[in-house]
Amino acid sequence: MSEESIINVKYRLIEIFSALNIEELDQIEKWISSHSFKKDLETKKSLIRSEKCLKNIGKTIKKLIPFEGELDSENITPPTVGDQADVTTKNSCHVDEFLYDDIEVDELIRQGKLKRFYCADCNSRNIKEVILLSHSTSRRASQYIFKYLLPKDLEDKQVLDVGSRLGAVLYGAYYFSNAGSIVGVEMNKECCDIQERIINQYSMDVDRIRVVHADILECSDIVHNSDIIIVNTLDHFLDAEKHREIWRFFKKHIKRGSYMITSRSMVETLAGLGMSEELIDWISICRSNQTENEVFFSTEDNEESFMYVVK
Ligand SMILES: C[S@@+](CC[C@H](N)C(=O)[O-])C[C@H]1O[C@@H](n2cnc3c(N)ncnc32)[C@H](O)[C@@H]1O
Repeated sequence: MSEESIINVKYRLIEIFSALNIEELDQIEKWISSHSFKKDLETKKSLIRSEKCLKNIGKTIKKLIPFEGELDSENITPPTVGDQADVTTKNSCHVDEFLYDDIEVDELIRQGKLKRFYCADCNSRNIKEVILLSHSTSRRASQYIFKYLLPKDLEDKQVLDVGSRLGAVLYGAYYFSNAGSIVGVEMNKECCDIQERIINQYSMDVDRIRVVHADILECSDIVHNSDIIIVNTLDHFLDAEKHREIWRFFKKHIKRGSYMITSRSMVETLAGLGMSEELIDWISICRSNQTENEVFFSTEDNEESFMYVVK
């Protein structure tokens, strides 16, 4: 690093430190001179390396699917119940968070490839913000799940992603954890082909990671044998009645003590489906298992993933 860059780093640090009071500054000084600072730095570097693998996978997938990130073989419709019942094809736009992070989304907007606003009643200044939806889990959310929420050692555990789509969660589990078995169940064949292709192209260990082309309702054994079940919002892909059926099926087959990770609070999901009374006592929310990694995550990360234990 040149003398000039060092000055730049000092400038940035001074900017941050000047906002701290004496006690806060004291804590930061202690941290920097401690062993844990060195350890945190090593962890951060390893996270950056793993993230690079996911970014490369994302680049490969971008070449395989349309820019809109939805395939012709998919039947995606806005849900009629729940917190996204106000979403329509007019007021929303799909941007896959695994393929495009916030910086890339800003760049797409700058290039005019993505519009952030739409006119609510043409010919006026009454514009509204477009709702950006993602059908995939972002790299950031994957890190949060595997490096903060779940226990560190998953060697003898099976991770299941329900509706694995492009495989974002599977690759996250592969690179950010030591999970012994990683399974994606996906009903769309084209999505399964993309995941298989990525697993082969990136020479992943097929004894560790696999994709099953099936409806999750046909996979009670896989569900029962999984210790961690990840469910990103399914409601754009099925109607409310099938969605209810899937939660009843999970209640029947997920074993006690398993972790369930969802991208929306279960209180909201169950309320939207009118199932609160039936299912809310089946699970309880739980705390993060890797608090030593909290330094890598912000409060915003909290809002993207929720972890429950099955009672
Ligand atoms: C929101 S996407 C989740 C993608 C992925 N889990 C992630 O977080 O990146 C939901 C996926 O679930 C699939 N899906 C919906 N219902 C399903 C079912 N009954 N069985 C298997 N897959 C299903 C859809 O085809 C879609 O690809």
